[in-house]
Amino acid sequence: MGAQGSTERVEEGPASANQKAVAAPKPLVVERLTHQDVPNICALYKRVWDAFRPELPSDLIKAWEPTPLEFTSWMEGVTYFAARRDGKMVGAVGCELSEGSCRIVHLAVDPDSRRQGVARALTTAALEWARHNNSHSIWADALERFGGAAELFKHLGFAECGIFHKHYWNEDVRLFEMML
Ligand SMILES: CC(C)(COP(=O)(O)OP(=O)(O)OC[C@H]1O[C@@H](n2cnc3c(N)ncnc32)[C@H](O)[C@@H]1OP(=O)(O)O)[C@@H](O)C(=O)NCCC(=O)NCCS
Repeated sequence: MGAQGSTERVEEGPASANQKAVAAPKPLVVERLTHQDVPNICALYKRVWDAFRPELPSDLIKAWEPTPLEFTSWMEGVTYFAARRDGKMVGAVGCELSEGSCRIVHLAVDPDSRRQGVARALTTAALEWARHNNSHSIWADALERFGGAAELFKHLGFAECGIFHKHYWNEDVRLFEMML
C-alpha cells in the first residue's frame, strides 16, 4: 500500500543557474516491518523520543527507545508497519489484535517528516489491518501533553473516549476509539 507525500523541490543540472526543476513527489511507502528493519526502527524511535529530553520522564524515554533485542520481543503479538520515503524509514506504528479489537501502539513519525501525511498513512494501514482481521473496533492512546496526536486521531475520525490518570510514568493518557 502507498500514499503520496508533499512536494519536494530539488535543483537539477546542467540547466542554467537560475533554472530550477520541480521533482516529482517522492512516494511514501507503507509496508509491514520485517526483522531486517529492526535496527532502523530502533533508530527511528531513538530520534523521536530523544527530542523530548528533558521534558518527558527519563524512565518513559528509556522504555520507548528499545534495543534491537527488546524490540524483537515487542514484535511478538504486534504487527508493525513502517513508512519509508526514498528508502529512509520516517515513521512506524504497531497493531495489537486482542479479543476482537485492534490497539494502535508506538505510533511515531520522524521529527523531520511531520505534517506530510506520514501518520495518516500509517493509521490508514492500521485501520486496514484491523478490518482485514475482523476487528470490531480500533483504539489508541496518547500522552495528554501530545496535542498533535489527539488532533491526528480526531482528524481521522476517532472519538475521544476517556483518560487514564498518571498512567505512563505519572503522565495522563487520552484514549481514542473508532468502531469498524
Ligand atoms: C503525532 C504524530 C504521530 C503526527 O504525525 P504526522 O506524520 O506529522 O501527522 P500527519 O502529517 O499524518 O497529520 C495528519 C493530520 O493530523 C493532524 N495533526 C498532526 N499533527 C498535528 C499537530 N502537531 N498539531 C495539530 N494537528 C496535527 C492534522 O489534522 C493533520 O492534517 P494537516 O497536516 O493536513 O493539517 C507526530 O507528530 C509524532 O510522532 N509525535 C510524537 C509522538 C506521538 O505523539 N505519538 C503518538 C502517540 S503517543
